[in-house]
Amino acid sequence: MRRTGAQLEKQEEEEVPAPARCPVSHGHAAGEAEPRTAPSAPATAGELHQEAEDFIRLFHREESPGDPEARIAAVRAEIEETGTYRHTRAELDYGARVAWRNSNRCIGRLYWRSLRVRDRRHIEDADSVAREAADHLREATNGGRIRPLITVFAPDAPDRPGPRIWNEQLVRYAGYAQRHGPPVGDPRNAGLTDFALRLGWPGGPGTPFDLLPLVIEDADGKPRFFELPRDAVLEVELRHPEESWYANLGLRWHAVPAIANMCLEIGGICYPAAPFNGWYMGTEIGARNLADADRYDLLPRIGERLGLDTADDRSLWKDRALVELNRAVLHSFDRAGVTVTDHHTESRRFLAHLDREESHGRGVGADWSWIVPPMSGATTPVFHRTYDTTQWRPAYVHHPEAQARARGEADE
Ligand code: ARG
Repeated sequence: MRRTGAQLEKQEEEEVPAPARCPVSHGHAAGEAEPRTAPSAPATAGELHQEAEDFIRLFHREESPGDPEARIAAVRAEIEETGTYRHTRAELDYGARVAWRNSNRCIGRLYWRSLRVRDRRHIEDADSVAREAADHLREATNGGRIRPLITVFAPDAPDRPGPRIWNEQLVRYAGYAQRHGPPVGDPRNAGLTDFALRLGWPGGPGTPFDLLPLVIEDADGKPRFFELPRDAVLEVELRHPEESWYANLGLRWHAVPAIANMCLEIGGICYPAAPFNGWYMGTEIGARNLADADRYDLLPRIGERLGLDTADDRSLWKDRALVELNRAVLHSFDRAGVTVTDHHTESRRFLAHLDREESHGRGVGADWSWIVPPMSGATTPVFHRTYDTTQWRPAYVHHPEAQARARGEADE
């Protein structure tokens, strides 16, 4: 049964203190413009107390029967003494999973409980972060049977920022700027590619799919680059189920989408380096990464190879090329034994997720413009309804300065 607006509002009053933000670091709402200052400016102690208490209550309500008051008092004392507090292992696991559950842009949340958490909070130096990031990829890749996984590194503390991964994902393709014309590779990563080169990265072989090194900054504030070990990165070469010329396009994509520059925010604590992954939905690759005009922009080439009239919009050559490109993505991942989902299946699962969450009395926030797939929108059931847009917490939060780093822009 769907809850009424009034019931939702009631629940919000009781359970949602405020929109997502990261009080330890900044205290700005997610997505709001904020000054690009030092990485970590502690919020007021009062805010941290409140965030922490709200989280502990939520954790106890959902997960840990019994009285939360003793834990709340202990956290309060710890904050008073140290300016921060340490989550228990169970709180961390739960917080990371619920942050996924609360990711309004993610259509794949049905399996939020299955997220595995690698607790690496003791790790804060860049070399170890790089090593652990490679291990994360190996464990997540799992020979192709992708496992949803997060690795949580040291949090921001009042006296010491946690480490930061500049790359937006652990695996990204370089985009080499050209004097004339668009970059070679993924234009989205041109800024970070340039930055890595300036740090001394010699560059890759110059293909459209060169692996970028990781760029990692620890408390010393000096970003360094780390080449990803080849064996940590599984890629899928793209072929089409019927068109044999397709393989000659030399297209490929990486198996694991692992977001690396969002802050995991739990109970007022910000974990700035907490790379997490699920598995791909085919359209992310076929209808965006390889198709967008400001990414690999492949529709014209594919349209021509398919013999379509690319001079006439009304031949719908883009739409037809898009479908074939997306068939190739799904076909190739399947053939390679790499987990991938399609937008029809995932849309149904998302509605199952809404029903399941509502049956537990929980609100689900969602952003229609992200949930609806980037092709064939109205053929999927997620198109034909609206969503509550409340941003619940814990959450994965984009900090504007982290997004600037992913573009290769240093702070000063
Ligand atoms: N859309 C991003 C990409 O194409 C990945 C975002 C996360 N996706 C996921 N299926 N978990 O690389």
